[in-house]
Amino acid sequence: MVCLGNICRSPLAEGILRDKAEKEGLDISVDSAGTAAYHVGNLPDERSIREALLHDINLNKQTARQFSIDDFDAFDFIFAMDLQNKEDILSLARSKEDRNKVHLLLEEAPELKLSEVPDPYYGGPEGFSYIYKILDQAITSFLKTQ
Ligand code: 4NP
Repeated sequence: MVCLGNICRSPLAEGILRDKAEKEGLDISVDSAGTAAYHVGNLPDERSIREALLHDINLNKQTARQFSIDDFDAFDFIFAMDLQNKEDILSLARSKEDRNKVHLLLEEAPELKLSEVPDPYYGGPEGFSYIYKILDQAITSFLKTQ
């Protein structure tokens, strides 16, 4: 799960996917990263932590890191939160195989009629509740199709 800073959107997406995978007994490796390095080593944003806790999901073990080329080898699916994230990830791809791993997360939930998970960083807590809902919907659909 990849966003810009790896403190707001992708940590929530990581937490939601890990929680669902655990509940369904799936043995998958889940991680998140940011395309930028601004927040490397930081905990998720307090507002993401709080929103996750409302759903019994703990993000406290996560620390921000920057997306790296090695992630193309480590993961089968690389989900970008927005179009800029997708473009930045694709700019690092070495091959068609790498490029084929990169998707917009919201393509998993076409019924939302949205392509991007909006960045809640500069808004209030309601933005975090909203992105929780759409992340949950897209991740639920993704797991159903696997
Ligand atoms: P994220 O949100 O990409 O969802 O983690 C942001 C976090 C920090 C910044 C921008 C977006 N920032 O500019 O520091």
